[in-house]
Amino acid sequence: MDANKRLRKITKFILERRAATEAKGAVNFSAFDYEYRWKHTLRVVQYGKQIAKAEGADVEVVMAACLLHDISKFDDKEYGVEHGRVSARIARPFLETLGYSAAQLNNICFSIAVHVDDKADFKHPITLESKIVSDADNIDRFGAYRILLQHKNLAENYEALIEKAKKRLPVLRKYRKKNDMGTPTGNKLFKRQLDLQIDFLEHLMEDSKLTVEAKI
Ligand SMILES: [Fe+2]
Ligand SMILES: [Fe+2]
Repeated sequence: MDANKRLRKITKFILERRAATEAKGAVNFSAFDYEYRWKHTLRVVQYGKQIAKAEGADVEVVMAACLLHDISKFDDKEYGVEHGRVSARIARPFLETLGYSAAQLNNICFSIAVHVDDKADFKHPITLESKIVSDADNIDRFGAYRILLQHKNLAENYEALIEKAKKRLPVLRKYRKKNDMGTPTGNKLFKRQLDLQIDFLEHLMEDSKLTVEAKI
């Protein structure tokens, strides 16, 4: 089976799991939650692919792991920090049907398992691919859409919005000075996200100064 066929099968597997949960009538999550999760997954796949190519990693392993990294989030259950390990357990029996080598299979499962807190429930060395999956996930967590989601509830509460921006800016500037991603390409893409967030929040703060008792 070629790489594209396998990736298409994985995609179908995830979407069927999501559809089954939604058909049962999920009580813990909304239709938006599932839609957000799927779009997040697709973005993570593309970031992962880009980083894997630049870093000389196994692109198919990275793409498969990125696709499956949050599969447990398509259940009607909140697994918290366990969701990476649960996702790996859901993925493994299915991946076994796709003809991956044992090394690739374990690498995919390990990359999924550790993406939340660097811990797997089986023994495996850290791999370049596992670092890339975590990088891709973190990069999307700091994307443009996330800025909107993080601030949408405060859009009509200006003072609280500015207060939040004021507190958030030093945190983001601190991240900007570090190189916390697992790969150089991950750091480059993460910094691009941080620059966007910092720029947005700085503009928000600048604008807020114009609203203080106008000096006309
Ligand atoms: Fe996750
Ligand atoms: Fe994720």
